[in-house]
Amino acid sequence: MQHFESSELSSSGPRVVVMTGAGISADSGVRTFRDHGGLWEGHRPEDVATPQAWRRERKLVWRFYQQRRAQLGAVSPNPGHAALVALEQRVRAAGGEFTLVTQNVDDLHERAGSRPIHMHGELAWLRCERCERRLHDLEQVDPDRFVRCDACGHDALRPDIVWFGEMPYHLESIELAVSSCTDFIAVGTSGVVWPAAGYLHAARQLGARTWVQSLDAPENLDPSDRFRPGRAALAVPALVDELVLELGLR
Ligand code: APR
Repeated sequence: MQHFESSELSSSGPRVVVMTGAGISADSGVRTFRDHGGLWEGHRPEDVATPQAWRRERKLVWRFYQQRRAQLGAVSPNPGHAALVALEQRVRAAGGEFTLVTQNVDDLHERAGSRPIHMHGELAWLRCERCERRLHDLEQVDPDRFVRCDACGHDALRPDIVWFGEMPYHLESIELAVSSCTDFIAVGTSGVVWPAAGYLHAARQLGARTWVQSLDAPENLDPSDRFRPGRAALAVPALVDELVLELGLR
């Protein structure tokens, strides 16, 4: 990971990176991956979220994602999402930089007013594996009907989701932001999926202040991290209030 000396950087205020995971969407009613121990129709999520499953059991994988795509219409952002929008505004008003990275594939950050980097893709997009055309579409959510590619005729677009074993998106921009951040904040992520889980450690090693908000202590938590347990809808707004004071954003 590249490291930049502060003299090379243009911003005068704090440089904040926020990494969110399923926990922030849990308070909007979106199921997390790991804390229910639950199976989806007898399958572990890890078993349907692979390119191998898409090749072998395409109907099952499609149904799984169509349910999740349909669910987006029934959920709304919560005060945790809104608090991160307010934090971004304060950081920018202070002349700082703000980067929001999310592992979530829902669109709740966008609907709250943020522009996140989606490192694991987005439910709202479909992608053709044959010609790489991407289609933004949340209309066709029938679990039993595939969506044909209207560019090359391929019979089934896939969800534009980064599955297990695939390369996450935008790693270069994320690493650049992490390598120069003054404050790194992890929200609602269990810290078990890499490379996302490694950024907290990387920021810590590079001297950033590290903040962690989650219901349960994540795997990658270190005693030096400022851990603020609780439900995201309450705890993230409280953490943002704390950051505003600590970073002198008023
Ligand atoms: N408020 C805050 N945190 C919560 C809440 C809540 N209401 N509910 C659960 N959490 C926390 C849990 O304690 C846990 O630490 O959110 C975390 C959810 O962990 P995971 O389900 O593992 O989600 P995440 O870390 O985002 O998963 C990473 O794994 O399956 C893949 O690609 C998928 O992006 C996903 C990645």
